[in-house]
Parts: sequence; structure tokens; C-alpha cells
Amino acid sequence: MIVVPVSLGDRSYDVIVGAGASDQLAALLPRNVSRAAIVTQRSIPYEVDPGIEHRVFFIDDGEEAKSLSTIEALCRGFSQWGLTRADVVIGVGGGVVTDVAGFAAASYHRGVPVIHVATTLLAQIDAAIGGKTGVNLPEGKNLVGAYWQPHGVICDTAMLSTLPPREMRCGLGEMAKYHFLGGDSLDALPLDERVAACVRIKGDVVSSDEREGGRRAILNYGHTLAHALETAGGYDLRHGEAVAIGLIYAAEVARELERIDDDRVAEHRRVVGGYELPLAPPRGTRVDAVLPLFARDKKALAGVTFVLDGPRGVEVVTGIDDEVLVRAFERLMA
Ligand SMILES: NC(=O)c1ccc[n+]([C@@H]2O[C@H](COP(=O)([O-])OP(=O)(O)OC[C@H]3O[C@@H](n4cnc5c(N)ncnc54)[C@H](O)[C@@H]3O)[C@@H](O)[C@H]2O)c1
Ligand SMILES: [Zn+2]
Repeated sequence: MIVVPVSLGDRSYDVIVGAGASDQLAALLPRNVSRAAIVTQRSIPYEVDPGIEHRVFFIDDGEEAKSLSTIEALCRGFSQWGLTRADVVIGVGGGVVTDVAGFAAASYHRGVPVIHVATTLLAQIDAAIGGKTGVNLPEGKNLVGAYWQPHGVICDTAMLSTLPPREMRCGLGEMAKYHFLGGDSLDALPLDERVAACVRIKGDVVSSDEREGGRRAILNYGHTLAHALETAGGYDLRHGEAVAIGLIYAAEVARELERIDDDRVAEHRRVVGGYELPLAPPRGTRVDAVLPLFARDKKALAGVTFVLDGPRGVEVVTGIDDEVLVRAFERLMA
């Protein structure tokens, strides 16, 4: 078992990573809690044992379940059962469950402790770590939420064995990202240690910038083109696949700006390709379909903001010209 501490002063917590890590759940509970509300989905083939009185609350599957009506139903269920702040919420699932369970815990009685048992690769290396919780509105994703750090997180890598391949790929796109955020030799590690290394990188970024004032933005590496492809729609790409393509594109943009050399671009292709993720957008994707979807700098007169690799590592770069973005796109599609 690997224990990765996330240090946030008196809200610091441990992330326990390894095959069978969910056996540690009882030991991870806050002291003196009497009951646990377990939030999960019927499609998740795992039961956890917190070792105290508990009740299971099911939420539906998919992005549609990340809604205020799910939060209301959960909180009403908690209330009817008599849950108090002396109890604990335990989310058992992927990012949908941890976002919903986290936000319900943040809101119910103005905050009860939450523990995440992350069951998808994406949740283990991303969604369950860092304290962002929330739900969608019809107007957009993740528009209502709260920062609510968990009391602890469990990443039981044995649980990944039942994950459908496409869900696994989704997590691998984020994992590829961590290679360029300080996880250079990630490929050489066994899965447990690789998950722990990603958790450590995200945890360190979050400890230095809990509320996204600056450094936390580097976690969006590869996400500018990814979000544009997802927004443009019609490509049948999962988020992780879109991020994979976005990483290659970000490398091509950095190379156009002479921030990195050909070898480093090749390194991006090798890592992403190594996870059997796509290296380019679907054939026929036009630059004019995605470029207008990149965030324009509000202050600068012209140009786009990107998270880019460079001599000082990955950082936020503003004021990038459209010509650079178009040339990089041509290389991406070549
Ligand atoms: N809070 C954050 O910082 C953060 C970061 C990244 C993503 N997210 C959010 O995470 C969500 C996506 O999460 P996700 O990719 O984990 O998807 P998900 O939670 O929808 O899980 C994918 C599917 O796999 C099933 N499943 C989960 N674990 C399983 C297992 N071990 N075996 C078999 N089936 C299993 C789920 O029931 C679901 O049907 C998005 O809503 C996204 O906004 C949040
Ligand atoms: Zn992402």
C-alpha cells in the first residue's frame, strides 16, 4: 500500500493507493463518527465495509445524474435517516459519484466529512483528489459547486479490473498528461506506483494553489483543444481521448513558439501513443471549427491563452497568435 499525503494545513489528508486499499476504509474514518452514508451507483460492482452502521444511497449513472435534483434527493435521504455532522459520507465510484457525494457532503448541515473510494482511473488520479465538487446545470457543466477537501481518499487499483476499456482510456488520457507535469519516468512504473505518482503530482499542485489562483491551471495541460473538440461535438471522443490529442497539439504549439524541440514533441507522441490513445483529431476536423472555441485573452488585445511546455516546465502562456495555432494544427493533422 502506498500512502500519499496531500498537505493543506489542518485539512491535510492521506490518499491510500494499492490493490486491496479499500480494506483500509474503516481505519481512515474520522475519529468518533457513528454512521456512514455510502453514495454509489448500481453499476459499480463493489461493496465497501466502513465497519460502522451505514446505509447505501444510490444515484443514477452518467453526467445527467450530476444535478441539483440528485443533491436534493441525497440530502433528503440523509435527513430522513438522521445523518448529522458527527457522521461521514463515503462516495464509492468514478468522478460523477465523487463530485456529487462531495458536493452533498459540503452542503448538508453546512458540511459533513467525506471520504472518496475512487473506482475509475480518472477518479483515482484526478476527480477524487483536490477538493473540487459540484454538479451541472442545463446551462453548462460544473456550474454549481464547492471546494470541500475529503477526509481521506482510497484508490483501490484492483477495482480497475472491471472498468470498461473505454472508461480506462479516459483515465489514461489524464495519466499521459502527468508525464509532462513532472512525472517523466512514469512509463517505467507498475500501475499502483503510477497512480500514486499522479496523485502526488496533483496533490502537490493543489497544496500550492488550492483555489486555482495560478499554478493549478497547469492541470489543464492538453485541455484547450480537448474542450474545443468536445464543444464542437460530433466527434465521439471521450474526454481522455480528447485530452490525448490536446497534449500533442499543445506540444506542436510549443514547438512553433520554439519553447521545446522536435525531440520533446516526439516524446509527447511516444507517451500518448504508448497508451494507445489517438494522436490527432478525426480526419476532416477543420481548424476553423476549433480555433474560435479557444479562450481569448480578455486583457490582451489579441491572442489566445494556452498551457504550454517549455524550458521551465509546463506553464500558462498568453497572447498566442492565430498563425501559430493554425500552423501547429496543420502539423497535428499531417
Ligand atoms: N472534481 C474534479 O476535480 C474532477 C476532475 C476531473 C473530472 N471530474 C468529473 O468526473 C466525471 C467523470 O468521471 P469518470 O470518468 O470517473 O466517469 P463516471 O463516474 O461516469 O464513471 C464511468 C462509468 O463507470 C462505472 N464504473 C465506475 N467504476 C467502475 C468499476 N470499478 N468497474 C466497473 N464500472 C465502474 C460507473 O458506474 C460509470 O457508469 C465528470 O463529471 C467530470 O466532470 C471532476
Ligand atoms: Zn481532464
